[in-house]
Amino acid sequence: MEASKIKDLVAAMTLEEKAGLCSGGDFWHTKAVERLGIPDIMVSDGPHGLRKQDLEGDHLGVNDSISAVCFPAGCGAATSFNRELIQSMGEALGDECQSENVAVILGPAVNIKRSPLCGRNFEYYSEDPYLASEIAAAHINGVQSRNVGTSIKHFMANNQETRRMSVNALIDERALHEIYLSTFENAIKKSKPWTVMSSYNKVNGPYVGENRQLMTDFLRDECGFDGLVMSDWGAVGDRVAGLEAGLDLEMPTSKGVRDRLIVEAVKTGAIDESVVDTACERILGIVYRAVENHNPSARTDWDDEHEKARKIAEETIVLLKNDDNILPLKAGNDIAFIGKYAQKPRFQGGGSSHINCIKVTSVLDEVKAQGISGVTYAQGFDDEEDVVDEALEAEAIRAAKAADVAVIFAGLPDAFESEGFDRSHMRMPDCQNHLISEIAKVQPNVVVVLHNGSPVEMPWLDEVKGVVESYLGGEAVGGAQCDILFGKVNPSAKLAETFPYKLEDNPSFLTGFGSGDEVVYSEGIFVGYRYYDKKKMPVMFPFGYGLSYTTFEYSNMKVSDKIMDDSKTLTVKLDVTNSGTVAGKEIVQLYVADLESTAIRPVKELKNFEKVYLEPGETKTVTMTLDKRAFAYYEPRIKDWYVEGGEFEIMAGKSSRDIVLGEKITYVQHKKLPVRYTVDTTMGDIFKDQRARAVVDHLYRAYFEGELSSQNEASEEAISNAMNDAMLENLPIHAVIPFAKAVITPAEIEEAVKKLNMLD
Ligand code: BGC
Repeated sequence: MEASKIKDLVAAMTLEEKAGLCSGGDFWHTKAVERLGIPDIMVSDGPHGLRKQDLEGDHLGVNDSISAVCFPAGCGAATSFNRELIQSMGEALGDECQSENVAVILGPAVNIKRSPLCGRNFEYYSEDPYLASEIAAAHINGVQSRNVGTSIKHFMANNQETRRMSVNALIDERALHEIYLSTFENAIKKSKPWTVMSSYNKVNGPYVGENRQLMTDFLRDECGFDGLVMSDWGAVGDRVAGLEAGLDLEMPTSKGVRDRLIVEAVKTGAIDESVVDTACERILGIVYRAVENHNPSARTDWDDEHEKARKIAEETIVLLKNDDNILPLKAGNDIAFIGKYAQKPRFQGGGSSHINCIKVTSVLDEVKAQGISGVTYAQGFDDEEDVVDEALEAEAIRAAKAADVAVIFAGLPDAFESEGFDRSHMRMPDCQNHLISEIAKVQPNVVVVLHNGSPVEMPWLDEVKGVVESYLGGEAVGGAQCDILFGKVNPSAKLAETFPYKLEDNPSFLTGFGSGDEVVYSEGIFVGYRYYDKKKMPVMFPFGYGLSYTTFEYSNMKVSDKIMDDSKTLTVKLDVTNSGTVAGKEIVQLYVADLESTAIRPVKELKNFEKVYLEPGETKTVTMTLDKRAFAYYEPRIKDWYVEGGEFEIMAGKSSRDIVLGEKITYVQHKKLPVRYTVDTTMGDIFKDQRARAVVDHLYRAYFEGELSSQNEASEEAISNAMNDAMLENLPIHAVIPFAKAVITPAEIEEAVKKLNMLD
């Protein structure tokens, strides 16, 4: 419906009808206005499957939902580093929504993995904002290509479950923009989601849903967002303040209570009716977009979708360790599959994203379906309680001993990670760690296949030859695992987060999830690899890391220009060759490092990536681009992104810790940062500008009076001037008064400051 018609419709509504439209009709629907023939629409969770509830609604995955396909969760989607693949997953989700008449699927969930312990990390993509935003954009573009809306969530800083509905996240300005907001910004700009979901928490004081700077200035003015903002379920405090800030739709229903507050606020003049009108126009914009584009003939073929889920899972499983080429498993070997998850994989997380699957394939199902012989099974552990089950363990040890290879399917049980609570440690259940170590004592060829949404400690890492990280791979994970283990599929995923050796290594460890209702993001911009790199810390597996059954060589890196500025876009090309014997896909990562900078910056940051398929011996040229933002940091002084001129290095890497090629370029910056001088400005800052230096020259001389005149040799003078400069570096200009050899008055200082501020 055209914007003008929507305006007319809103103009025809009573104040009560308009206020009513600003909250849900029930748990999953907007409100219809029958008098005017305005329909309602249905929204449902996401993100990696459709959780449509026909009967009683809930936001914790407690009650039943219709059968649907469960794709790999966000933790896996990101490890694919494959935009097209995730877009195709979005398309499938969009088709399912059309066939179920769901207008908006709630996701993707893009919050940054600040701590490995966040209970919802399995739904989230990455510790890196660029990667998270690119995968989110692909997901959104896929869903929306089917004329179904998305709701990018949870905007913003919902990086923990602990007190998620009340915690106040204290985040410095640079981290806020460079890490937490930029994820939303890039995704919104690239994919124009129909809706944004505001989070429960507070940021730097107010609730996000009541923060105009975030909800309107940032989302609408900076990102160009033109859809509707809805609350997370129950994330509404002061409804009127929220509406003014830009929170259009309260979800779920407020049962009329808060609608009445809106009416009252308009009647008393506390808010202008136009605020309500604007929210209604945005809501109706989405309602009609969905209704007019509904495709009643859309159908989902469950088998096709299951197959698609399997193809996606194949690209989300990361090979972390493969000593002696223990994988792929050799045909004809006796192989013991051990661990409950071989039979009942853990493939999705608990809470609002929980899907009622059509069918689930375990690795044992797939071994059977493919007629692979020589595989035995022993359960090994039970994940109901974390206690060693001696009988199960003994049976597993016997099976492992009798085989040529033992493959242990382990990981985190549901009780360890879920929406609603955070983990309290990074360990796997003790009973599983115990089992792995006991098996490694009797069997030298051990592979561990993990199922978890976020890093775990691996005390047995040196005792096993192989580690495969399956993450939570969706309903078809068993098929993908089987093909990777037996070499039909070559693993091609890489980690979207760092695996530290231990929790204490993680930068958020010191302040964690906060104390009481406040959490300080004390690590600032140094989240994930940005921290480990800066500290030169050894990690278990770095960001961007993942092995393949083949090898890749990078060569011939070329940058389109050695001089870069704000107006240009650089093109980076390099050749990638498959130097091994099997076909495979490589993820080429492009990092940018600011080599000389006065601003505090990470060692390097991911700014582009490309995934490329190569036959053995084949070479392809990979092309990626970098614009101003790839070089910039957020400069609080100008409240904008800024690049400091100087030398940068563009690095092509197989992981964040395996940089293979690099090219240096010079960034030319003509725009100067504004300088405001005060009596507290240091001499060092003044000396940065020769014109400013000239203004304070008399003060400088007064400070050193006597000493300067005693030097007669020109060379000596140069050296001591440099020393003098260094001594004055940190001296605020007002401190010349007590230390100068000559008498300087405050009026003279103020006069100098005045002149300094007149320089530009
Ligand atoms: C979750 C959202 C979800 C909503 C509806 C909330 O508890 O945080 O991600 O979309 O419930 O189920």
